[in-house]
Amino acid sequence: MIMTKTTAHTNIALIKYWGKKDAALHLPYTDSLSLTLDGYYTTTTTHFIDAAQDEIWLDHQLADAAFAARVEKFLNLVRTLNHSQKRICVQTINHVPTAAGLASSASGFAALAGSLDKLFQMNLSKTDLSRLARRGSGSATRSIFGGFVQWHQGTDDASSFAEAIDENPNLPIRLLSVVVNNQEKKITSTKGMLQAVETSPFYAQWPQVVQTDLKSMLQALRNHDLELIGQIAEDNCLAMHALNWTSRPAFTYFTAATYQIINLVHQLRAQGYLAYYTIDAGPNVKIITSIADLAQVQARVQANFPQAQVTKLKPGPGIR
Ligand code: PMV
Repeated sequence: MIMTKTTAHTNIALIKYWGKKDAALHLPYTDSLSLTLDGYYTTTTTHFIDAAQDEIWLDHQLADAAFAARVEKFLNLVRTLNHSQKRICVQTINHVPTAAGLASSASGFAALAGSLDKLFQMNLSKTDLSRLARRGSGSATRSIFGGFVQWHQGTDDASSFAEAIDENPNLPIRLLSVVVNNQEKKITSTKGMLQAVETSPFYAQWPQVVQTDLKSMLQALRNHDLELIGQIAEDNCLAMHALNWTSRPAFTYFTAATYQIINLVHQLRAQGYLAYYTIDAGPNVKIITSIADLAQVQARVQANFPQAQVTKLKPGPGIR
């Protein structure tokens, strides 16, 4: 029996993906740029089974209907590509701190794509693997590679893929994941993006914002300018969330705790620490800091938010 095990890590976007120009193919309206993280990852094993149905396991239990449906849609795509009817058993383990409530779809679909590539002996290049992972979840396209990664939006399925900018960055960057709320998000990223694209009067500006931020970010990465990297990421994150505030009806992923952490980051910065924040489609905050300031920033976060689950993260590897 062929069993294929693949591990992929999550990534955090420093220049965000927010809006699809093709919903079925997950083609974004803009490029995006991320950092793959070491601490959070998904391990997926697949094998063929002699059965009428696929079997989908998540963290040693049969997956719920919503999770199974998303995985099966992806299995159907890969079966179609391989002219196969074979049923598959998928076993997924999310190595994300319990109750973190963080999006694991990036690492999840990257690991699933990698495992199926081996199971079907497709021998895809990393570029093609990145295109395949994209069909599961947009952000998964970037989790094929380690370190800093750029997703080229492209114009069709063939041209929309990620590329490594620097897989082993020689930069003292560290992240603190601050989890204050582990409830399921009420507005999925797919729904939030659609609402912003269709109703925010500022969405027309977004591609220009990303283009400018991306250019500055690539320059900041070349210059190893960690403060500027943090500042651009923070500004870009706020521009993304402004699209949600200006949707009709308006919505936000921020909660009171989100603002409290933002305030603390501003205080830390005013006191001379390197600290910036970025936030995705949920209330939790990732603080961008440096090796030198990590311990102090972490101590302050923990003292101010004793209930929060705080995890230290550093650049992580690509799929393996
Ligand atoms: O991959 P999706 O469809 O869950 O979208 C991810 C959206 C953000 O996390 C908010 C931004 C990003 O670029 O990862």
